[in-house]
Amino acid sequence: MIKVAFYDAKAYDKPSFERYGALRGVSFKYLETKLNEDTAELAKGCDAVCVFVNDTVNAAAIDRLYALGIKLIALRSAGYNNVDVRHAFGKIHVVHVPAYSPYAVAEHAMAMLLTSVRRVHKAYNRTRDFNFSLNGLCGFDLHGKTVGVIGTGKIGRIFIDECRGFGMNVIAYDPYPAEDAGIEYVPLDRLFAVSDIISLHCPLNDGTFHVVDADAIDRMKTGVVIVNTSRGALIDAEALLEGIKSRKIGAACLDVYEEEADVFFEDRSGHILDDDLLSRLISMPNVLVTSHQAFLTEEALNGIAETTVNNVLSFFENDGICDNELCYRCGNIERCKNGRSERCF
Ligand code: NAI
Repeated sequence: MIKVAFYDAKAYDKPSFERYGALRGVSFKYLETKLNEDTAELAKGCDAVCVFVNDTVNAAAIDRLYALGIKLIALRSAGYNNVDVRHAFGKIHVVHVPAYSPYAVAEHAMAMLLTSVRRVHKAYNRTRDFNFSLNGLCGFDLHGKTVGVIGTGKIGRIFIDECRGFGMNVIAYDPYPAEDAGIEYVPLDRLFAVSDIISLHCPLNDGTFHVVDADAIDRMKTGVVIVNTSRGALIDAEALLEGIKSRKIGAACLDVYEEEADVFFEDRSGHILDDDLLSRLISMPNVLVTSHQAFLTEEALNGIAETTVNNVLSFFENDGICDNELCYRCGNIERCKNGRSERCF
């Protein structure tokens, strides 16, 4: 039996991981705590760790895991910005789930956009109080508006299809344009200048950190709606708040937030929130926040569990070779030139 320490475990994770794990001989030790250098010790006696988006898999945590004999870090997410893949190289292999349900995330982005522009969240609260007034609920049509999509990978392209279904004009920016997708690519500056709605679907890396900052917001149309279901640090949250206070930004739909790690996924009701910036954003009538929920559908949870169990088995039973390995050797983390035909280290 392969033993895996499962950090940041939530009730909704267990049914799918139990089902696939039990079927395939992988046993999970569920830990409510997040992985960091102090909690790494809890993986003692395990072969691998399984982590999610807000576990801190930095150099110090990796060194502790390595000292414990951990062989594999299995991310149950596509994004891996929280893992120091470079530091792990030569010590512990890292695998991820490149795709589970891109529809889950794209549909959540659209759900947030529709909710925001048609004030559904406000109407829901009102009618529960038998307040049937429409004052302040006037929205706008998506039809005919220009949406700028940053990142046209799996999720971005599905979101584009949805936008086309609504009759929106779509423009996009991606340093690696999708061929034959019929997408009109424009420079980022132009996308900022002409979009009524901007939706972020690119990964967080050195090139995309704070891609939406004060300068970018200055160049946007007044009343722009910003949707972020990718990673919080794509947006400078302080600049976003300023943009909202100055009425430059019409609305923001945030499923992710730069400093979400200590707050999101937890029940903080009844507590004083220490993060003033997040409190202020949430207090704004035109800001909609969900707590990194875009992935959360049954289809996605099953896909994550199945791929993670396959990754673990593939690594331990296939001489360390796994298609979904993130390798730093050639610097091309997701597309290792090694071609997966031999061990990376
Ligand atoms: P993907 O890898 O299929 O697509 C990412 C696209 O971004 C690629 O086309 C790539 O060329 C492009 N890109 C890279 N650098 C860029 C830059 N500087 N500017 C613009 N585009 C750039 O990834 P996928 O599956 O579409 O996921 C996108 C992001 O969604 C992930 O990186 C992750 O952060 C986020 N995500 C969020 C979830 C949630 O629950 N909120 C769940 C799953 C993913």
